[in-house]
Amino acid sequence: MSRRPIMAGNWKMNNLTSESKSLIEGILAGIKDLNESQMPEVIVAPTFTSLSLVSDMISGNSKIALAAQNCHWESSGAYTGEVSVEMLKDLGCSYIIIGHSERRQYFSETDEMINKKAKSILAGGLLPIICCGETLEQRESGVTDEHIASQIRAALSGLSNSDIAKSVIAYEPIWAIGTGKTCDSVEANRVIAMIRNVVKEVSDSSTADSIRILYGGSVKPATIEEQMSMSDIDGALIGGASLKADSFNEIITNSMKVAV
Ligand code: PGA
Repeated sequence: MSRRPIMAGNWKMNNLTSESKSLIEGILAGIKDLNESQMPEVIVAPTFTSLSLVSDMISGNSKIALAAQNCHWESSGAYTGEVSVEMLKDLGCSYIIIGHSERRQYFSETDEMINKKAKSILAGGLLPIICCGETLEQRESGVTDEHIASQIRAALSGLSNSDIAKSVIAYEPIWAIGTGKTCDSVEANRVIAMIRNVVKEVSDSSTADSIRILYGGSVKPATIEEQMSMSDIDGALIGGASLKADSFNEIITNSMKVAV
């Protein structure tokens, strides 16, 4: 089964609108001459404050899609500071990243909240990018697989197989995020194949074959080719290296050297 790769840039809490403007201009210039049929799906996830601007700048361009970095599961109401799926859809988002380890760690997001967000995103016609990953301590104590399997089971609980098939998962070992220390590709592929197996257990094999599972954690232009040559890695969620158009564009073009 061939799954279309995804290269997604997670800009995190970076960039004023003027900086987002030059970054997206640089990315658009870099992908302009690429053959769309050979390209991965390119996604950018700016902060809420830059979504409208970036949305306008990529409007009508089928080579690039917009993601938000978070949402609330309720559609509206007295939730000061929160943003709903419908509001993000209104701005042109197609994807919403949920359950990033930074949100789990610093904002106490639980598996239950992530599951509610996934349901709300899919009900609203958008697609979730569901993040999971283990701490260094969990890895060293040998509980990586059971921890990740439980995060995935909780996130997908109650979703239909067709909704699961459309969703995206990102495996991001926490110790590899922003540290410059990428997870060995063979090991990342092993964990991602394990995740695919968990997806199969909660759905069926065609759903597990369809869902795209990304790797994230210090992805760079120099690492992406090897990562994309692995059987189960369907793309990357890129933080630091997505903040410069040159390195993000190089990741996109390097990923295209690998036949899928
Ligand atoms: P990084 O971040 O590429 O800077 O390690 C990845 C992420 O957190 O999504």
